[in-house]
Amino acid sequence: MATVRLDRLHKEFRSIGGAVHALRDLTLDIADGEFVSLVGPSGCGKSTALRIIAGLETPTSGRVLFDGQDITGLEPRDRNIAMVFQSYALYPHMSVRQNLEYGLRKRGVPREERERKVAAIGAMLQITPLFDRRPRQLSGGQRQRVALGRALIRDPAVFLLDEPLSNLDAKLRVHMRAELAALHQKVRTTMIYVTHDQLEAMTLSDRIIVMNHGVMQQVGTPEEVYSRPANRFVAEFIGTPSMNMIEGTLRPEGGRLLFSAPGITVPVPPAAARQGTTGQATLGIRPEDISLVPPGTPGAIPAQVTVSELAGAERFHFIALNGHSVIVRTPAATVLHPGETVALGLDPERLHLFSGAGEDAAAIR
Ligand SMILES: Nc1ncnc2c1ncn2[C@@H]1O[C@H](COP(=O)(O)OP(=O)(O)OP(=O)(O)O)[C@@H](O)[C@H]1O
Ligand SMILES: [Mg+2]
Repeated sequence: MATVRLDRLHKEFRSIGGAVHALRDLTLDIADGEFVSLVGPSGCGKSTALRIIAGLETPTSGRVLFDGQDITGLEPRDRNIAMVFQSYALYPHMSVRQNLEYGLRKRGVPREERERKVAAIGAMLQITPLFDRRPRQLSGGQRQRVALGRALIRDPAVFLLDEPLSNLDAKLRVHMRAELAALHQKVRTTMIYVTHDQLEAMTLSDRIIVMNHGVMQQVGTPEEVYSRPANRFVAEFIGTPSMNMIEGTLRPEGGRLLFSAPGITVPVPPAAARQGTTGQATLGIRPEDISLVPPGTPGAIPAQVTVSELAGAERFHFIALNGHSVIVRTPAATVLHPGETVALGLDPERLHLFSGAGEDAAAIR
């Protein structure tokens, strides 16, 4: 068990094409036993951060501390970590069973304990029937589970997991997600988890770190990043379908602040209005926070249905609203037809406002 501190980590890769800033000034304190996820789009620096924590990559500047001790210069094997790589490498000449128990054997764990642990991890990952096969005789998803097993069988200070479920089918992925959560409940070892799947991050983590272009955008509980995104990038990255965004302006009128865009005028929530920002702004509203209201309801916005998609228990309706396009999420029983006119209600308490229009537009609150 260990606390992990990332202190102003910076990583610059230099190549013939020029320099890439993979990480910029990453500072983060991870508590002992905490499950944190790094999420963000491809290339945002997640693996680079994890590889620096593992000791596989040297930061250009900054430090990594475990339990307050600077370990930036330590070799990976001296860090007491277990890691699953994004491109997992198994020992090709060993069977699945031998791959799983290799680390235990090396540390002189007695045979009985080894067998007990291998059996437990095999059952958890549903790979027991594959124990006598070699890695090349396995599918990608099976290999990935063996790689995960090889890490989880250890008892390190910190687990570092880089997209450990990416090659599994949807059903197995949900199952493994629950198994990982249960394992973490049980062992309470610090876990740092990398994924580009925001749902995985939301369901597993105590806290989520959202990254973009090597820069930490927000750190918070799943609830915080979902309901109070710090900027437009986080708002659009977390949640599917994405938060609807409408670009317009904020202006004072009759003692209140109004957001307006072609065909839409909405009063700004009191908390945001107190901040008094005016000028270019973006209004954000989640698909589940738009309701279909009876025509003629005060404040309702008339709009036309473009397409409706059935997604199992719910429906996503694509709706055109004076040149803007929004997605509305309803129960599956709400059937709408293309071309139909509807009236939309926006819950003022559920609106998000961002000052400006770019992805780094900060939330006004
Ligand atoms: N060895 C390297 N040399 C040069 N550039 C690199 C190297 N490793 C990574 N990069 C660059 O650094 C940036 C961050 O890469 P990183 O692998 O951390 O992204 P990631 O967030 O893990 O993405 P993905 O979700 O695709 O795995 C990218 O622009 C990548 O091209
Ligand atoms: Mg990666």
